[in-house]
Amino acid sequence: MKSHIQSLLEQAIQTLKQQAIIPADFEARIQVDRTKDKTHGDFATNLAMMLTKVARKNPREVAQLIIDSLPQDSQVAKVEIAGPGFINFFIDENALTNQLMAALNDDHLGVSLPAPQTVVVDYSSPNLAKEMHVGHLRSTIIGDAVVRALEFQGHKVIRQNHVGDWGTQFGMLLAYMEELRAQQGEQAQVELADLESFYRAAKVRFDESEEFATRARQLVVELQSGDEYCNKLWREFNDISLSHCHEVYERLGVSLTRADVRGESAYNDDLEQVVKDLDAQGLLSESNGAKVVFQDEFQTKEGEPLPVIIQKADGGFLYATSDLAAMRYRSNVLKADRALYFVDLRQALHFQQVFSLARTANFVRPEMSLEHMGFGTMNGEDGRPFKTRSGGVVKLVDLLSEAETRALELVRSKNPDMDEEELAKIAKVVGIASVKYADLSKNRASDYIFSFEQMLSFEGNTAPYLLYAYTRVAGIFKRAADVDLTGASIKLEHDKEKELGNKLAQFAEVLGRMVAKGQPHALCGYLFELAGAFSSFYEACPVLAADSEDEKKSRLLLAQLTAKTLKQGLDLLGIETLERM
Ligand code: ARG
Repeated sequence: MKSHIQSLLEQAIQTLKQQAIIPADFEARIQVDRTKDKTHGDFATNLAMMLTKVARKNPREVAQLIIDSLPQDSQVAKVEIAGPGFINFFIDENALTNQLMAALNDDHLGVSLPAPQTVVVDYSSPNLAKEMHVGHLRSTIIGDAVVRALEFQGHKVIRQNHVGDWGTQFGMLLAYMEELRAQQGEQAQVELADLESFYRAAKVRFDESEEFATRARQLVVELQSGDEYCNKLWREFNDISLSHCHEVYERLGVSLTRADVRGESAYNDDLEQVVKDLDAQGLLSESNGAKVVFQDEFQTKEGEPLPVIIQKADGGFLYATSDLAAMRYRSNVLKADRALYFVDLRQALHFQQVFSLARTANFVRPEMSLEHMGFGTMNGEDGRPFKTRSGGVVKLVDLLSEAETRALELVRSKNPDMDEEELAKIAKVVGIASVKYADLSKNRASDYIFSFEQMLSFEGNTAPYLLYAYTRVAGIFKRAADVDLTGASIKLEHDKEKELGNKLAQFAEVLGRMVAKGQPHALCGYLFELAGAFSSFYEACPVLAADSEDEKKSRLLLAQLTAKTLKQGLDLLGIETLERM
């Protein structure tokens, strides 16, 4: 409710800005407090006092102007000016139940859509030279959840899979691909099924044979100068690599498609121009033959200047160069209001540097916000970066298969009589959900320990717990299928009903936080609490055996809204629900 009043006040300020009563660029800090004495209403704000200076009016006058500009709202019964210029809000007693009824009858669960924005979301973004690794798993899962929530709120989302499909290592890979094809013909395809060992084998050849290394370097030059044969080879390689990625996306139920791929290579033609534009603005310096930009605010601990390298001495461009070009494209062509980057926190400095440079060089519109949504490292149970037992890179497909196998055992132990087909279907959902939820439910900025045991537990903030909670709530409602709920309404009398009602009413607010900060764990925590609030309610308040018909119906509606909210919430996290498990 507090944030609801805040948003009403924000709208009033917007109106006052349009009427030029307060300056358009004034940033008002809106504070709303719960009142101690209910004769002063339920909430109060000192906003009018904060605005007296810029509005050049006395606080009570400003308060009246604010009140006149407040949008009509069904939850606010009365607004009053008090004392020197406080504004007091009286909440309608029925506001909460009205809000819940509205949510129940709305596809969007009563989430009112804020001003829609265009949001570019850069996520997944693996390097095509190698197999996608666990870091990209985090980016993919967290990014996709935020994308879904943004779209649910009504924003226009443009997904950008900024894959690493360019760079000198491609010379080595293409040379190896060429060599294999000459030796094995079609058979060479088989080796490409495992990119990791393909890469290693290519590296061995590169290190052992001078002739091979020369060919590799030559191929890079030819690739970059647009040679048709080279480009064809390169496209074939990337195509195979990308199809591995899309296999993973599909299994994960991630919404990325091929059309969302816009890799580093897409910016090739603009890189020369980036250099020229930086040069024209006098931003470029020379350092050991390389073209670099020094920005005063970036220094090493020893106080040495820390440049962004734009072009190497041999003419090659860098990761930062394509990111500058990409920002320009996102701002000027895609017209993004926000650009979100779901990338490992270890790249934080890179993003600080290129964001700041893009602003200095006017590559992005000043009003566009650039946000690095960094995440921590996924570690194994030994607390070290995730590796296979033999120390190799964990393939994501293997990881997902193991999750599904373990989920199958778990589901079977709970349902010894279930037939194999249904077991398999349920296990698939539970396995994938567990991997995703384990990642989403942690604060993304912290490192986390990947543990099958923990993620597949029925206890605590886990996917199995929530999926099971959902089947229980949905089940209650199914057992009451013959109860006619037309015209019924929610009444919150019992304490546990009130607690559940309050929780249910917070959905929109939580979603807002998740989207503003790019933090799915806010939604996970909320759904976990909601499931808990429902359990306590269900223990204390009989539903089908309620004292009266009205009470029974009211409680059924609460169960219905809980089920709807859990399902919608999980869906926004990219998690499928089950009717039975
Ligand atoms: N390919 C990069 C990596 O694997 C991530 C790219 C992230 N996006 C970006 N615009 N830099 O580290």
